[in-house]
Amino acid sequence: MRHLMSPLDFSVEELDRILDLANDIERHPDKYAHACAGKKLATLFYEPSTRTRLSHEAAMLNLGGSVLGFSSADSSSAAKGESVSDTIRMVSCYADICAMRHPKEGAPMVACKHSSIPVINAGDGGHQHPTQTLTDLLTIRSLKGRLDHLKIGLCGDLKFGRTVHSLIHALVRYEGIEFVLISPEELRLPDYIREDVLEKNNVPYKEVVRLEEALPSLDLLYMTRVQKERFFNEEDYVRMKDFYILDAKKMQLAPQDMLVLHPLPRVNEISVEVDKDPRAVYFKQVQYGVYVRMALILTLLEINVES
Ligand code: NCD
Repeated sequence: MRHLMSPLDFSVEELDRILDLANDIERHPDKYAHACAGKKLATLFYEPSTRTRLSHEAAMLNLGGSVLGFSSADSSSAAKGESVSDTIRMVSCYADICAMRHPKEGAPMVACKHSSIPVINAGDGGHQHPTQTLTDLLTIRSLKGRLDHLKIGLCGDLKFGRTVHSLIHALVRYEGIEFVLISPEELRLPDYIREDVLEKNNVPYKEVVRLEEALPSLDLLYMTRVQKERFFNEEDYVRMKDFYILDAKKMQLAPQDMLVLHPLPRVNEISVEVDKDPRAVYFKQVQYGVYVRMALILTLLEINVES
């Protein structure tokens, strides 16, 4: 039985197969409409979410399966003090697969050790968010035509942003990837990723503070929000929250074919006027998130749909 804790749980070839499957689902949704009939997905969300929970649920419903779960720790027995390992033992009796989001790094890993069903890490603290990475990879491959030879700007909260951490892990396996890390000094990428992932794999990168400096040379700009809930004090958050605001004027500095991605939710970091720029693809990214989670559920449940 397989789980998904980090994007590295799949080889590059396996990832390619998942992305191919997602593209086939996009083209022929009817073919997959009953693939998970009789199967249940449990969503165990101990932390707020809109897209990640609903997209897992939409994915299972699109496959003809059903869903159950909870959307906050307060509405589950966690509020009574139940451990993650006990919860997952029970959920294994109710469902065939589950997606778990938790504020503590490593909680889904604890769950998978006690689970008899596949566990999907739907975000653990500031650590990893592998299904967002699958979404990002599918978006980039579908709209740019490749996952290699790209210069990628990662902008915003690179310290606490788990989507950025997972995306870096996944992308360093492709050839010709270069990063521009755009953040305020206080929100720089943690050393353990800079040294153990970027430097160890000889991936070229540059750290800059000004977005304007990076924009003209990028193939992709991945914007992120400042992660309010992971700050120790409100004052620091308030000081950082509007550090970057991508607007129409700044977009004039960017190449005509540069794509703007964002895992969402957006706060202030992308002005709404950018939404109508054809280079802004963050709402398309949401749609890709459903196709790729459908492909992931089929893969983890080992369900093959004949072509
Ligand atoms: C991200 C997350 O939860 O880490 N959201 C998402 O899943 N699309 C990004 C964020 O919350 O900023």
